[in-house]
Amino acid sequence: MSSIALDSARWRASWDEVMTGFVPGLSLLEAAIAHAAGEPRRILDLGGGPGVMAERMAERWPTATVTMIDLDPVLLALARSAVPTEVSVLEADLGSFDPLPEADLVTAVMTVHYLRPERIRTLYRRCHQALAPGGLLVVADLMPDEGLPSVMSALNPAPGEAAAELAWAQWWGEMAAADEFTQLMDDREEVFGSRPAANFAGSVAWHIAAARSAGFREAGLIWRDGRHAALAALR
Ligand SMILES: C[S@@+](CC[C@H](N)C(=O)[O-])C[C@H]1O[C@@H](n2cnc3c(N)ncnc32)[C@H](O)[C@@H]1O
Repeated sequence: MSSIALDSARWRASWDEVMTGFVPGLSLLEAAIAHAAGEPRRILDLGGGPGVMAERMAERWPTATVTMIDLDPVLLALARSAVPTEVSVLEADLGSFDPLPEADLVTAVMTVHYLRPERIRTLYRRCHQALAPGGLLVVADLMPDEGLPSVMSALNPAPGEAAAELAWAQWWGEMAAADEFTQLMDDREEVFGSRPAANFAGSVAWHIAAARSAGFREAGLIWRDGRHAALAALR
């Protein structure tokens, strides 16, 4: 077994902690997705990272097939070394991957802010094409809602967010210092060097309008936690 495989449980556990730092209500989001999705047979997780959520969805829906897509060589290596056989790991760029695999549930958690607005619109159209009638797209990300009271303002970072940013930087700093990941970190630099994150945070209204114009018959929020929210769009 490679040292990456030996260490992946630790890296993935600390990743999960970092993500929960960004999104403290992550477990409630996952519960909301489960409630809204019913019994999906085919699940697609876009920008699945090290596959932590894909693995949890495979546990939640043991008869479903789960496919996760990402393009980060480091995170893909962690995912491949750890996810159960029910989870397929695909390496692809969401900006160009077409068509997406067919699905009953598509999730994208903290992924779409990497993409420019026109790419998100295209991705929503591809998700609509990939989903079966009645299928569900859930997109959770930073989604400002100017209507929120000022203490929860989507435009102001929550108090814990600086700590989450620091934990994120530390996680990647430790990864950069780990010998077994040197080559993968170089590969990562190559991948993201030409694809800087767009850091686009569309409002809730923007995402709902984009989902509707992609063809979804219903779209609305199923979850909010401070500046983070989840759009659910029904095919
Ligand atoms: C903040 S991470 C979230 C990962 C995972 N969804 C989670 O919640 O743990 C964002 C993910 O999106 C992936 N990503 C960003 N741009 C992408 C693209 N163009 N194609 C595929 N994946 C992308 C990144 O590699 C990363 O794994």
